[in-house]
Amino acid sequence: MRSLIDIFDLSIEELDELIATANDIIEHPAAYAEKCKGKKLATLFFEPSTRTRLSFEAAMMELGGNVIGFSEASSSSASKGESVADTAKVISCYADIIAMRHPKEGAPYVASKNATIPVINAGDGGHNHPTQTLTDLLTIYREKGRLHDLTVGFCGDLKYGRTVHSLISALTRYTGIKIVLISPEELKIPGYVRFDDLEKNHMEYLETTNLEEALPTLDILYMTRIQRERFADPFVYERLKDSYILTPEKMALAKSDMAVLHPLPRVNEISVQVDKDPRACYFKQVLNGKYIRMALILRLLESVDQPSPAENENAELLINTIRCQNPNCITSVEQELDQIFKVTDKEYHICRCIYCESKQQTKEI
Ligand code: CP
Repeated sequence: MRSLIDIFDLSIEELDELIATANDIIEHPAAYAEKCKGKKLATLFFEPSTRTRLSFEAAMMELGGNVIGFSEASSSSASKGESVADTAKVISCYADIIAMRHPKEGAPYVASKNATIPVINAGDGGHNHPTQTLTDLLTIYREKGRLHDLTVGFCGDLKYGRTVHSLISALTRYTGIKIVLISPEELKIPGYVRFDDLEKNHMEYLETTNLEEALPTLDILYMTRIQRERFADPFVYERLKDSYILTPEKMALAKSDMAVLHPLPRVNEISVQVDKDPRACYFKQVLNGKYIRMALILRLLESVDQPSPAENENAELLINTIRCQNPNCITSVEQELDQIFKVTDKEYHICRCIYCESKQQTKEI
């Protein structure tokens, strides 16, 4: 039984198939109107959402299925202390597929290990947001006609922006991609994205603080919000929040066919004046999100009887030897979970938490 926790749970062929199915749904919506008749999607949202939750719900309805769920942790039994694992077991009794958003990194992974139905990660803390990545890939494909040979700029909060991390990971699989990372010093991409995605894959990339200088080189500009909810210190947020504001004057520096994407919500980083510009694609991106989620729901429900791809088959694991130091890891709040690390580098004694993927160095290796 397949789940989608990380964009790498999908092969490149499966990504292509999902994009092709989404394009077919856009062309022939009536052909899909009853594909999920009698099926139920559970949307378990422990963190706020407009687009992801409602696009999942609209997607299931347009496939002829039904939707159950909750939109905040306080209206679920999580508020009474129920674990993610137990929640997943319970929902498996009521629904055919789960879409889960959770503030703790690795929570949807825990759900997938305990559910008897497919689980889709709808965003876990600052970690991953694979269905936003599918949305972004579909939008890039529809705007540019290809997913290769593109210069893609990411601007804003590259440290906490899970959509940025997932999209960079996904783009490492395509040829001819150049990445331009535009952020304040304090919000640069995390080391694991720089090393594991960009450097290991020999991706061409540059880091800059200057949006104006980068703009003329870009085929895609992926703007992001500076996320107030991820800052421990509100004064740091206040100082950084308006670091980049895309205006019509700045758009004049860009290529005539550059596409502007944004996972939304926006706060102040794209002036509403830019919305009229034909290069502004972020509302088309919202609509694409519904179609690619329709394609994904179909794919996962069709593959319900297939085994999950082998995981950690040859990996050396450390089990309950060290604790994850990431305060946003699901293991920081659910103490009964086994602490499991995959050994990634024996020479330098590096291992990686299987839930949140944060790296640690330990003498235990
Ligand atoms: N892009 C996105 O994840 O939006 P929501 O937070 O509204 O779901």
